[in-house]
Amino acid sequence: MPPKGRSTYRCTECGAEHPKWVGRCEGCGAWNSVAEEPAARKRRSGGAAERRAGAPSAQPPIRLSAVERGGVGRWKTGLDEFDFVLGGGVVPASLTIVGGEPGIGKSTLLLQVAARLEAGGISTLYVSGEESPEQVRLRADRIAEDCGRVHLLPEVRLEAVMAHAQTLHAGVLVVDSIQTTYSEDLEGAPGNVGQVRECAARLMRFAKETGTAVLLVGHVTRGGVIAGPKTLEHIVDTVVYFEGDPAHDYRVLRAVKNRFGSVDEVGVFEMTGGGLRPVPNPSAAFLSGRDPAAPGSAVTALMEGTRPVLVEVQALAVRSSFGTPQRVANGLDQRRLALLLAVAERRAALPFHELDVFVNVTGGVRLDEPAADLAVMAALCSSVQDRPLPADAVFLGEVGLGGEIRPTAGTDRRLAEAVRLGFRRAFLPARTRTTAGVETIPVPHVADLARRLAA
Ligand code: TYD
Ligand code: MG
Repeated sequence: MPPKGRSTYRCTECGAEHPKWVGRCEGCGAWNSVAEEPAARKRRSGGAAERRAGAPSAQPPIRLSAVERGGVGRWKTGLDEFDFVLGGGVVPASLTIVGGEPGIGKSTLLLQVAARLEAGGISTLYVSGEESPEQVRLRADRIAEDCGRVHLLPEVRLEAVMAHAQTLHAGVLVVDSIQTTYSEDLEGAPGNVGQVRECAARLMRFAKETGTAVLLVGHVTRGGVIAGPKTLEHIVDTVVYFEGDPAHDYRVLRAVKNRFGSVDEVGVFEMTGGGLRPVPNPSAAFLSGRDPAAPGSAVTALMEGTRPVLVEVQALAVRSSFGTPQRVANGLDQRRLALLLAVAERRAALPFHELDVFVNVTGGVRLDEPAADLAVMAALCSSVQDRPLPADAVFLGEVGLGGEIRPTAGTDRRLAEAVRLGFRRAFLPARTRTTAGVETIPVPHVADLARRLAA
């Protein structure tokens, strides 16, 4: 046992205790899973420790039927796409983490949110551990919202952050970011697993005890995880990710966990010279700039949460100048592309083994749904055949290894969105019925698709 008052180290995967920090847990062999735990502190009366020790809590147990109904109160920011993704607005006494890669626009989003909440009469404290007040002021001057009344605090020590939030009676506390915040009770450097976990856990307690809504910025690594282990997601109420290709202006805010709303809902924003602007009609935005007369361009309808969104898939196949042909996928899983190319080669006799293939999804959107397979296949066929696809057609269907086209869920909703944007034809798996009012073109197999498009 380490001496009294010193920190202990515990594996977040298997719970094994270690006398000092190690990169790999000796118990379960997991890498980078050992985190520092705060030294045991003196019990204060009424503290959580005492309650655990047997003293009854202030409130006696009550029957569930005696619990008052009533929904959760929410603070609307008026930034519609943000409110929508959170389930209707910011929930008091909740902890939300906003994750995203550096440079995607997290600080901009939360500064806009802070300004809007403050304008609505909710006192807001924006804590920046990454940027100086001058840098934050520069950003504030760019965005359309008036940030003048937002309280700003450059601070990295968690204890100071919470003390200031309490003195200010802040309704909303923004902490930018969890990786720069640290607690003086822990020895580890800011950003390490132990610090990040402990700071998040304490901010959660702070939110519940004071009724403050805490919004936490979390940088994600290239692998897409917040601060290494996923353990943070269990600690907080809501996790939203801010995604997009920094080279494009569109940003997608996606809820992956929400104790106060549904998950998988997305909100679309556009990064402009004056901050982030909600995009109320994402389909039209994603299709703007499309040239339907260009070979290799196909349109499909994705389900983003409960909303259908149309996107354009582009493919370019050119004769390979090296021995091993290149496969480059943007916005699409590289392995999914490899699978579709193998199916096209084997089941529709398209000569991809001698072609370099590039696939791109416009607007920085990701195709994570098998329903988009048929559009990728159509774009590939169109590029190989060097013939444009019908301009008013959408493609929906999953491609199986045998080359068969399988039905997908939500066909009517997806097609209704396509009709709304002027599409009149839909290439669909065989025997698909729809009430959406489009001409349906059944394609049971990728060979049928290739034949049909070549005709
Ligand atoms: P930022 O919010 O700093 O990203 P993060 O906090 O996720 O690291 O913003 C990143 C980019 O947004 C930066 O490259 C500048 C750009 N930007 C605009 O294009 N318009 C604007 O009005 C603002 C404030 C930023
Ligand atoms: Mg930032």
